[in-house]
Amino acid sequence: MKRDFISLYDYTPEELRWLLERAKWLKERSRRGESWRPLEGKTLAMIFEKPSTRTRVSFEVGMFQLGGHALYLSSQETQLGRGETIADTARVLSRYVDAIMIRTFEHTKVEELARFSSVPVINGLSDLLHPCQVLSDIFTIWEKLGRYEGVRVAYVGDGNNVANSWINGALRMGMELRIACPRGYEPNGEILERALREGARVTVSSDPREALRGAEVLYTDVWASMGQESEREERLRVFRPYQVNQELLEFAGQEILVMHCLPAHRGEEITDEVIDGPYSVVFDQAENRLHVQKAILEFLMR
Ligand code: CP
Ligand code: NVA
Repeated sequence: MKRDFISLYDYTPEELRWLLERAKWLKERSRRGESWRPLEGKTLAMIFEKPSTRTRVSFEVGMFQLGGHALYLSSQETQLGRGETIADTARVLSRYVDAIMIRTFEHTKVEELARFSSVPVINGLSDLLHPCQVLSDIFTIWEKLGRYEGVRVAYVGDGNNVANSWINGALRMGMELRIACPRGYEPNGEILERALREGARVTVSSDPREALRGAEVLYTDVWASMGQESEREERLRVFRPYQVNQELLEFAGQEILVMHCLPAHRGEEITDEVIDGPYSVVFDQAENRLHVQKAILEFLMR
């Protein structure tokens, strides 16, 4: 049976722990300059319907380092952009490649691709979820604090794909998540309710200071995600009180890891002073995408 990587919810805590351990092993190995090429002769197709810097480069470099090959397919330059169905694309790509990564809008497209593919499908971001990001964020927290279980994370900003994946991540890894977002911009209700039913320690409020109390991590993301460009002006206004700035950081009153999945809109959801400041780990966080995705690729394709 093939496995996909579509949501952190689909993985057991043991499997996620294995991925984190493997990522650590892969990172240490690459630091020592030792190669590890378990995916020789294997190909990953990467379908992008939205732009990307980190996801594209880390998957492509990761495949290369593991001995395999990655193909970049923009939907505009393939027949997908001319109306070939996801199902047919899945069936055809499955005959050529060993796994498919997709970044798209509707989450149902990722699920459909997985349903019709005979090879593993990886969610490289949908409007609903960004699981590769959050697994790698948990890795960064583990690396910096030496633990993740019980760590209190304050997520301040939009209840978007990253926030939704954080809910799943907190549920599976036993982390405490406090989300602060404006009313009307809460995370996905079904994902939240399911997590709460299953015992997740997650709260949602509209008060960033409340979320920050006792937190060891302060996380934020853009106010207008890809596909929401037309709402930008309205969102800039609504989200203003949720900016991660020096004042908010001082309210934390203790050392805190400042995280952002990037790209950042400096001066909007986060100030230069904070993202370039001593608590920020955003570039280590970006680097870790590579190591964690190599673990995911190895898990799915080996
Ligand atoms: N964080 C992240 O996924 O970045 P990209 O959009 O550059 O891939
Ligand atoms: N929430 C952002 C994440 C970008 C990596 C978006 O979907 O655009």
